[in-house]
Amino acid sequence: MNLVVANWKMNPKSAEDARVLASRIERGLLEVDRRKVEAVICPPQVFLPAVRHSLHFAALGAQNVSAEENGAFTGEVSAGMLNNCGAKYCIVGHSERRRMGETDTMINSKIKLCFRNDIAPILCVGFGATKSSSVSAVKRIVKRQIGLDLEGIKTNEQNIVITYEPLWVIGTGEPATPAHAAEILDFVRELLPKARLLYGGSMDSRNARAFASERVIQGSLVGGASLDVKEFTQIIKAFAI
Ligand code: PGA
Repeated sequence: MNLVVANWKMNPKSAEDARVLASRIERGLLEVDRRKVEAVICPPQVFLPAVRHSLHFAALGAQNVSAEENGAFTGEVSAGMLNNCGAKYCIVGHSERRRMGETDTMINSKIKLCFRNDIAPILCVGFGATKSSSVSAVKRIVKRQIGLDLEGIKTNEQNIVITYEPLWVIGTGEPATPAHAAEILDFVRELLPKARLLYGGSMDSRNARAFASERVIQGSLVGGASLDVKEFTQIIKAFAI
């Protein structure tokens, strides 16, 4: 089944706005063949309870999790707490967090804690590559990240999602080409035969179909466009194939 994930980032402003947005996305899902595509909504942690109660079809996800299990870690939220709030997925290793200093060692610990708490990690890879990187350089970066981030994890036995996100297209309105995304994800497929593979970066209603028509691309991690119900619904529909 394809997977379309809303990464709301640090939006919207209030729990009420989050609840309304989630309810409107749910209404949009009535028009979608839900046997073919699953939608996931990842609000800011503080809005997880409000969004949880608005969801019927979409799954709940988190945008981050602590690399520690519990204890004296001021401001952190554990995987156990996320599970308790109803989260089924969690984005891990997003470039915006890697840029804030999240290391592959931390990411590896976060992924292990997700699995221990019945949360499917959505691991983002591609950070470090630039627009001028060659395809082989991008593949080297992605392979290294997957090796470090999934060290000690039996990927064949786990529900794991990998998202290729070229840093230079995030939030720009100019996505990578579907052919480039497919080439990198074909490579990831060789490394991880069982993972679900997504593309993320400036996807919208106009370009979603072209990505969805690449067989290896099984969905998307959507930032900006996930805050616009019409846009997001069109993207989900594009992956209902
Ligand atoms: P974007 O963000 O869709 O706004 O480019 C994607 C992401 O950062 O996950």
